[in-house]
Amino acid sequence: MKRILLTGATGLIGGAVLHQALAGDDDATWVCLVRCANVDQGRQRVAARLARFTDPFTAQRLVRKIEIVPGDFTRADLDRDPRLDACTHVLHLAADTSWWGGERVFRTNHDGTLALARRAQAMAGLQRFLHVGTAMICGADAPRLVDETAYPAAAARHIVGYTESKAATEVSLAAQFPDLPIVVARPSIVVGHATLGAAPSSSILWVLRAADALRMLPCSPESCVDIVPTDWVADMLLGLLMKPELKHDLYHLSSGTTGRTRWADVIAAFETADPSDGVRAFRQFDLDRDRPALRKRFAEVFGLGDAAKRAMLRATRAYYAFCALDLTFANDRLLAEGFEPAPSLASYLPVCLANSGAITEQFADDIEMFAATPACPDTSADVPLAASA
Ligand SMILES: NC(=O)c1ccc[n+]([C@@H]2O[C@H](COP(=O)([O-])OP(=O)(O)OC[C@H]3O[C@@H](n4cnc5c(N)ncnc54)[C@H](OP(=O)(O)O)[C@@H]3O)[C@@H](O)[C@H]2O)c1
Repeated sequence: MKRILLTGATGLIGGAVLHQALAGDDDATWVCLVRCANVDQGRQRVAARLARFTDPFTAQRLVRKIEIVPGDFTRADLDRDPRLDACTHVLHLAADTSWWGGERVFRTNHDGTLALARRAQAMAGLQRFLHVGTAMICGADAPRLVDETAYPAAAARHIVGYTESKAATEVSLAAQFPDLPIVVARPSIVVGHATLGAAPSSSILWVLRAADALRMLPCSPESCVDIVPTDWVADMLLGLLMKPELKHDLYHLSSGTTGRTRWADVIAAFETADPSDGVRAFRQFDLDRDRPALRKRFAEVFGLGDAAKRAMLRATRAYYAFCALDLTFANDRLLAEGFEPAPSLASYLPVCLANSGAITEQFADDIEMFAATPACPDTSADVPLAASA
């Protein structure tokens, strides 16, 4: 019998994994390590996340199937709860995904993951420790087609501390835990759900919609983004977790060269979904040199009157910086395992747009990642337009 310890069940991908696993007929036991005051509160926190994938009644029914261990994964090595000892698999999704959280992000993602790995050493029957990283550990100077094995690389130039913390985690896991059956999965950019559209989350979807509304791109329309939907990522994680034998211990969860999306295709998908705006004319701009132009346009389209809008401008710039990299992550390893390729963004974007609310409201799903902190490089953008004029 499989007994799976899941961290991050209250997050986007963790919720998708749990929903797909519990709705299927697998008889594995899921043990969720959740930050909560008690088991009941933890169960309700997970149910709230599951309810973004199904109706509230079904979410309550599904959540009764899981075990809740209240706790913080960063202190897992101190947690002697015997329910953890019998786990046969670990799926470690929990992370601090803030982009400018500074030292806190490193402590959580790096030090915390090592604490969880120490706890896993006491799981006598452990068969797999699936650690979820990010393909973006390649940094800003990577070649346009990124191979798994080239990273982590000491020379990588990270745009944000979050990716640096994830790269350091992989290095330390490999160096300090050669005895653990660690497999690393690195998703690329996770946007929407292929059948539920924007219902589970609008994370990053709002960026595409903001770009469409701004009609500004920091790159050529021929450049590509490597985007995959949440439900496909969940399927891949379940596959990598359960497959008895894997050829490698490191996989990109990405669209690869065949499934990547050209910006021109994103624009065409918007034109089809919203033909009333006609053919879109996009302006290509330089993210560093033309900062005032982006700010001015953003103020015209969305306004800059409150802190949330200013955070949204910071977030737009930050995501644009990643978009401008024109990166594709090789997925040959994943496909060679027999897994299905990801559906292209252009094929499921209409589903996401069909149940999307206002762009500024969708940004709420990412706002915590972009709160102004001392580590935030862009606080000048916090000055209201009127004050800086
Ligand atoms: N989404 C993407 O586009 C993407 C792309 C590449 C890689 N990834 C990786 O995929 C993983 C999941 O991402 P996501 O988008 O699902 O993240 P998310 O929605 O931000 O969820 C993060 C999860 O981590 C939990 N967590 C954070 N600190 C914790 C702690 N100290 N103890 C226990 N739980 C803690 C959160 O719990 P609370 O609810 O208690 O805060 C939440 O369940 C992350 O490792 C991320 O780096 C994501």
